[in-house]
Amino acid sequence: MSQSTANDRVGQIAAHLAAVGPSLKDKVCIVTGAGSLYGIGRATVYALARRGPKVIYATDLGVDSLEELAKDVEAQYPGVQVIPRAVNAAKTADVTGIIDDAINKFGRLDVFFANAGIATGNTLQNEDEESFMTMMRINALSAFLACRYAGPAMQITGKGSKERSGGSIICTASVAGIRSGAGSPEYSASKAAVINLCQTSSFQYAGTDVRVNAMCPGLIETGMTKGTFDYARQKGSAHKIGQLNPTRRYGVASEIANVVAFLASEEASYVNGQAIAVDGGLSASHPVVPGRFH
Ligand SMILES: NC(=O)c1ccc[n+]([C@@H]2O[C@H](COP(=O)([O-])OP(=O)(O)OC[C@H]3O[C@@H](n4cnc5c(N)ncnc54)[C@H](O)[C@@H]3O)[C@@H](O)[C@H]2O)c1
Repeated sequence: MSQSTANDRVGQIAAHLAAVGPSLKDKVCIVTGAGSLYGIGRATVYALARRGPKVIYATDLGVDSLEELAKDVEAQYPGVQVIPRAVNAAKTADVTGIIDDAINKFGRLDVFFANAGIATGNTLQNEDEESFMTMMRINALSAFLACRYAGPAMQITGKGSKERSGGSIICTASVAGIRSGAGSPEYSASKAAVINLCQTSSFQYAGTDVRVNAMCPGLIETGMTKGTFDYARQKGSAHKIGQLNPTRRYGVASEIANVVAFLASEEASYVNGQAIAVDGGLSASHPVVPGRFH
């Protein structure tokens, strides 16, 4: 490496480290599935706000809980505008509508967190064409729409304060999309599709500085898993939840939100096309007899 190249590299590293702080400054973000009170989407709105963006669109099927969310976040993080919007994340017109709104009002789009999703506890024998297609429509199509339409919008410059193409698309997949054992067949298939969409889309956006990554949570206590947790607590077996992972506990939404906010920011500028498991280590091992090999 020549001395001037080395100096350039040192300067680049210093610039990156200095960027940590309000690492989403001036940025415009969209979050889907942000309405659930204990959900990953809502926690992520707070985690993004802490990094000082200009705007966060907080969206879900309805706006009821989003109005109160917007007020609370704006009070805690002055300078961050939170816009509540009803958006069906699996409808093209809704997704393109919210992206167009961001471009028309603020001239830029920087972060799209495609997080909306549903789950079933079905076995293969209980599933049929309708349940399978509903799952694929909501979980996989919503990720496709984010990848398909947010990427081009993130390349738009010159309409607002954005000087160069770039952005971060993060889709919520699941450890269930990595291998069997963490969800119903239709749910797991939909999340495997999400992971692959993120990987293939990252290459489709080669050279644009649009990054696409899949977030793969393990078992997290949210609105989606409330039934499982309530049942275990009622049976007195809540202490057993999460014991299969080496961290030996279940996770909470903020533990996913912090990693999503990292992926959203410039701090993750070289993280692209990845399926990132945030699961207490659950997916790191093949099943083993406890005590063996450990
Ligand atoms: N909780 C877990 O253990 C876990 C694990 C892995 C992955 N995930 C994934 O995390 C994401 C968030 O789920 P959560 O656990 O926070 O559950 P949650 O039920 O608390 O939140 C999901 C939100 O998505 C919204 N939603 C559903 N369909 C929608 C649609 N078509 N358009 C817009 N919004 C829609 C719901 O209204 C809800 O507010 C989901 O994609 C889920 O599959 C959750």
